[in-house]
Amino acid sequence: MTYARIAGIGSFLPEKVVSNKDLEKIMETSDEWIRERTGIKRRHIAGEGETTGSMGLEAAKRAMDMAGVSADDIDLIILGTATPDKVFPSTACIIQRRLGAKGGPAFDVHAACSGFLYGLDLANRYVQTGGAQKALVIGSETLSRITNWEDRGTAVLFGDGAGAVVLEACDEPGIMATHIHANGEYEELLHVKQGVSIGYDITRKGEAFIEMNGNAVFKRAVATFDSIARETIADLDGHIDDIDWFVPHQANMRIIKAAAKKIGLPMERVIATVDEHANTSGASIPLALDQAVRDGRIKRGDTLLMAAFGAGFTWGSAMLKF
Ligand code: UT7
Repeated sequence: MTYARIAGIGSFLPEKVVSNKDLEKIMETSDEWIRERTGIKRRHIAGEGETTGSMGLEAAKRAMDMAGVSADDIDLIILGTATPDKVFPSTACIIQRRLGAKGGPAFDVHAACSGFLYGLDLANRYVQTGGAQKALVIGSETLSRITNWEDRGTAVLFGDGAGAVVLEACDEPGIMATHIHANGEYEELLHVKQGVSIGYDITRKGEAFIEMNGNAVFKRAVATFDSIARETIADLDGHIDDIDWFVPHQANMRIIKAAAKKIGLPMERVIATVDEHANTSGASIPLALDQAVRDGRIKRGDTLLMAAFGAGFTWGSAMLKF
């Protein structure tokens, strides 16, 4: 049996940091409100010239460095993003070119905050069935470019950044289980309602914004963790203690706490970076994972559970031995 394991991980954050106090100066909000309702203290915002592609590229290079692989070794690139550089080609192809990799498939997966886990699920299947030996799975987002800075209900929530992993084929797990799901029924609760095929004039800069019914999304997110918890408990035959670390999508500290409780894990075993990064959608899980690997909390051999929920709605989970 062939499995996929994480051979390397990397991330990238833009230099510019915007604190809650900075936001107080441009909208009617307060550091206290944001911290209390979300756990967020600050977020990184892409500077001029920084894009989903450029940040994804840096994260990919760092992951490849850790894995000790070169561009010639990479035979699959999947990027989870809702904020691509161009309408086409895919940002995965743009990253492939800049890396100097050639020939293998490269494509974007559009599953909003679940994009990285969708990519991981797909890449795992490629590796398990011999379709790829070394795959890059990237999550990268420039949400600041679709943020309405006049809407305090959404503007305080999001940030920019990228994370990436190199998956490689091996004889032992590695990835033990992945699950991905979608239910399009709630499309309007969280969306950017502009798009190419509905006739959005892309020269009208600044009109394609994230719109969200925060309250309803919050409730759906928490409820969805019931089914994620059920799938996880079934995968583990009830042995939740086998999980060393829970690395959830970083949307809101209250959602993270509710999710950990449903799955049955204490907060000491949860990786939370939402305070420093805010919600970076598809980038948030690999960003959190990279931080915890590099600061020494997550070690080789640890069992990890990752889980995400986002627009679509989409959701999913992955369990693996690091
Ligand atoms: O990856 C999935 C993506 N999305 C999410 O995970 C977001 C899910 N939702 C949430 O995290 C929460 O719903 C929010 C953090 C967005 C909002 O928290 P809430 O506890 O649901 O607050 P609310 O929307 O019910 O608003 C409460 C009050 C309102 O004022 P009134 O009507 O009670 O006077 C809002 O106008 O808070 C007000 N408010 C704010 N006040 C200060 C909304 N945004 C702000 C703000 N600063 N930034």
